[in-house]
Amino acid sequence: MRFDIITCLPRLLDSPFSHSILKRAIDKGLTEVHVHDLRDYSPSKHRQTDDYPYGGGAGMVMMIEPIHRIISKLKEERPYDAVVYMTPDGLTLNQKMANSYSLLKNIIILCGHYKGVDERVREKYITHEVSIGDYVLSGGELAAAVFADAIIRLIPGVLSDETSALTDSFQDDLLSPPVYTRPAEFIGMKVPEVLLSGHEKNIELWRMEQALERTKSRRPDLYDKQHVAKPNIS
Ligand code: ADE
Repeated sequence: MRFDIITCLPRLLDSPFSHSILKRAIDKGLTEVHVHDLRDYSPSKHRQTDDYPYGGGAGMVMMIEPIHRIISKLKEERPYDAVVYMTPDGLTLNQKMANSYSLLKNIIILCGHYKGVDERVREKYITHEVSIGDYVLSGGELAAAVFADAIIRLIPGVLSDETSALTDSFQDDLLSPPVYTRPAEFIGMKVPEVLLSGHEKNIELWRMEQALERTKSRRPDLYDKQHVAKPNIS
């Protein structure tokens, strides 16, 4: 799976893809992440990519021409399944969306900045608009990194234990149960007995009960979506 990320601040994206799971995914050839500096596609000698808004008002607006140039160039090189614009007024990202994006082959991600992007870019080039939550970031770069991370970890082979993405919180609309590691007791705080029992069936049952209980108390909206028979945990 290939990502082409378009940004005016390419260095902001150095770190997220240079460590841990995302780096390993790239090193193993399971994904490609290409970061493009939008300024390289500016027609002006000052590498300008934004301008004042028509009609006045505060903030700058990203211009269409540099974006047109880079997207047209990329599209001549290969077909894209999605051209995603990171924006707070997009569809709020959730696990199901990440699951569907993980099935695509080539994705362009455009990071917004300033007051946003000339509306004609959205009309002509953007196929999907994604927000990572109801708050405003300084730009789309961190949002793009979050979006790509949520997708890349789902690509088969990226996580060492393939089942672990399937047991993530939000797969099945359930939060994950609590986890523990050694020592079995620390300043009087004990790991639940069942986890030390070696009894797989009981452990699985305990985890399911805990997941349901957590979901019920922390995310009643998700809990209400559960179709399974719910134990009485009120
Ligand atoms: N750009 C600024 N804020 C954002 C958000 N919440 N999600 C996606 N892109 C953004």
